Amino acid sequence: MAELRAQGSGVAGSGGQAEGAGGVKESAFTMDTSSIKYGPGVTREVGFDMKKLGAKRVMVVTDPRLAEGEPVAVALEALRAEGIDAVLYDAVRVEPTDTSFLHAISFARDGNFDGYVSVGGGSTIDTAKAANLYATYPADFLDYVNPPIGGGMPVPGALRPHVAVPTTAGTGSETTGVAICDLTEMHVKTGIAHRALRPQIGILDPHNTRTLPQMAAASTGLDVLSHALESLTALPYDGRAAPESPELRPAYQGANPISDIWATKAIEMVAANIVRAIQDTEDDEARSAMLLAAAYAGIGFGNAGVHLPHGMSYPVSGMVRAYRPPGYPPDHPIIPHGMAVILNAPAVFRFTAPTNPEKHLYAARLMGVDTAGAAAEDAGELLAGAIIDLMQKTGVPNGLGAIGFTEEDIPALVEGTLPQHRVTKLSPRPAEAQDLEALFRDAMSYW
Ligand SMILES: [Fe+2]
Repeated sequence: MAELRAQGSGVAGSGGQAEGAGGVKESAFTMDTSSIKYGPGVTREVGFDMKKLGAKRVMVVTDPRLAEGEPVAVALEALRAEGIDAVLYDAVRVEPTDTSFLHAISFARDGNFDGYVSVGGGSTIDTAKAANLYATYPADFLDYVNPPIGGGMPVPGALRPHVAVPTTAGTGSETTGVAICDLTEMHVKTGIAHRALRPQIGILDPHNTRTLPQMAAASTGLDVLSHALESLTALPYDGRAAPESPELRPAYQGANPISDIWATKAIEMVAANIVRAIQDTEDDEARSAMLLAAAYAGIGFGNAGVHLPHGMSYPVSGMVRAYRPPGYPPDHPIIPHGMAVILNAPAVFRFTAPTNPEKHLYAARLMGVDTAGAAAEDAGELLAGAIIDLMQKTGVPNGLGAIGFTEEDIPALVEGTLPQHRVTKLSPRPAEAQDLEALFRDAMSYW
């Protein structure tokens, strides 16, 4: 990391982002994460963990595809073996909505649970977070939702214990205090972000990602890559406005020296393993590395945050019309989260590189690019090129144009990105409407 020291926080903060009411900049950052338990087969310890956390009646949250699968069966058995009353909730929607969240919340309220176990991808883990939050501290749905769409009310206190068992190597949701959903009527994707939402334990069991369909592995793996690249290049924490009180310090605080370390390692691991893990589902080593990389990136971005590729991904996913990727539930069209993110990423890094070329070159180097002799103005193109190379090797569609978007959609895509303050404000380079327009145009096609 020595080479990054000179790029420390403050350098990219010159991007001119908003200052606080009195113009005071942030001077502190926090580093929170879940406990992690890693190991092949370690899902069988979830009963032990929940018992230790004091739970007696647990809501086990999953989606319909996984409900009959082995990870859920192992979790239920492990809980029951410890005398815990485990009740299965298998109605999670992949890419959840406010409606699907509310369904799970009402199940949670009626069930009087004192603990939660989620077994699934980010959609499932996020649904469990929301169920836990609203069953523990009831409120109108929009009260806790991120501003300006919702009220951004801080979570009043600790939630019930939640143990998350990811079955994708992607969202890193097991390590973060963020829950994302679509607000169906507004056609916008947003979420709830508060550190109290973070699960107590993330159980990383490489057995659980064996059955991941190829496109899901590509999409979730590239989401991991973008988490790490975005948190590494985000506005530094001390370039943000200081919060009025420590309670209002956001979960996503901006790049910081500790998150940088986790992001660095995650980028190297994804670059080295994603193609192997996708091409050969029997490659336990590559698949295990991807699961760890997802958690590493999650620890980093769970504190530093993400920026434009994620902010722009929400309207992309929200405006899906007919696209149905192979291996996803056939009941509704869907643009998987990681795909929506990575399709914006090359365009974004071309745009942000001038704010901190050294950090962008560093990221390209971590992905295996030879940057010897590269000039500062090459940074964006080198990093974008490395991402595009992985997109091609993992079979991701060629830009937004390949999943049904046209130039005519750009104004609506821009409209849908502008309210995503939680993440867009962490862009190292402020992006106004006309910048976003140009970014979406660039993201239409890459090769
Ligand atoms: Fe993501």
